Amino acid sequence: MNQQAKIDTAKPRYGVDAYLDWVEKEGLPVTEDFGIDLYSVQTAPWARYGVKGAAVHLKGRGDFANMFVLDIPPGGATSPQRHLYEDVYYVLEGSGSTQIEFADGKKRSFEWGPRSLFAIPLNAKHRHFNASGRERALLATTTDLPLVMNTFHNEKFIFDTDFEFGDRTGKNEYFAGEGDLITVRPGNHMWETNFVPDLAAIELKSWGDRGAGGSNIMFVLADGTMHAHISEMPVGTYKKGHRHGPGFHVMCVTGHGYSLAWFDGEKDFTRIDWKHGTVFPPCDQQFHQHFNASQQPARYLATGVGGLRYPLTLSQRRSLLGVKPGEKGAVSVDIKEGGDQIEYTDQDARIHKIWLKEMAKNGVEPKMEKYFPQAERAPVMAK
Ligand SMILES: [Fe+2]
Repeated sequence: MNQQAKIDTAKPRYGVDAYLDWVEKEGLPVTEDFGIDLYSVQTAPWARYGVKGAAVHLKGRGDFANMFVLDIPPGGATSPQRHLYEDVYYVLEGSGSTQIEFADGKKRSFEWGPRSLFAIPLNAKHRHFNASGRERALLATTTDLPLVMNTFHNEKFIFDTDFEFGDRTGKNEYFAGEGDLITVRPGNHMWETNFVPDLAAIELKSWGDRGAGGSNIMFVLADGTMHAHISEMPVGTYKKGHRHGPGFHVMCVTGHGYSLAWFDGEKDFTRIDWKHGTVFPPCDQQFHQHFNASQQPARYLATGVGGLRYPLTLSQRRSLLGVKPGEKGAVSVDIKEGGDQIEYTDQDARIHKIWLKEMAKNGVEPKMEKYFPQAERAPVMAK
């Protein structure tokens, strides 16, 4: 053998994506797109969980986050799991319970239903049960497994480590649908808990900077690094455009609507129409703007990696916390003043026209006039 032949057969390993390799090895079907209807994702038996599952990969999701879908059959349950990545679950359909077991033998369980949100404390043993003997339960979970798997690239370490993160368990009430409101500033108020029974029912706080009567709440779930927040747009309104880093998985909770997304300098918008079950990503620094097109308030949940309590990147610190201590996050600051938000009066004129057509189509009365200066009302409202 000469040296050349040795090099040719050595199969040098480089450019490895340990997460994608793992997904393939697990035999999980993958759905990859910009906007995805989670109800129509193809699932297949997933031996690890003992139920059907799928991986959902949003195009433009960034490096840290992914999503799994779990389809638990009537009367079924997932196999017990523990792992060193975080899980933020959203219940798309069905009712059931989750049981969490700690090293001292103590157990915590809670009962979820449609639109519940919950997180599993890091590396805690857990199991999901479908309470119905007739209907399936469909859960979507956003995780930071791509970050964790690409860091350690060792399945045994990630799924078979005994260490218990006692500091992440949280109060007993956090498993019972209660929590603590931590006030920071409008747009950044946090609700700390492990479980939210119904995202359609949780009280939100006004966020004037993002415009048009919008409200939101940020979540700190199981004291984790994963981010989640929920926002609401009143009937007949839309939010201001803005941009930030990647990784958010945006899911409609109530109502229906659409979002426009575009990169700086792009001539046309990418449009995503959403309803319950839709998930889509604003890509890295892609401007995006959300519009309520329905006759009821539209709520959406956004999950991702790196939150208000534990931001992971400088970009997240800038977006959420501002450049200097005490400043507003850049997502709330006018782009003319160095921030990342487009004021209504500066937005592309096509945006309001598209929306007015949508309002007419859906028989909804537009309620945006007061956000535009007098001079712009006539052309904006022209048919
Ligand atoms: Fe956003």
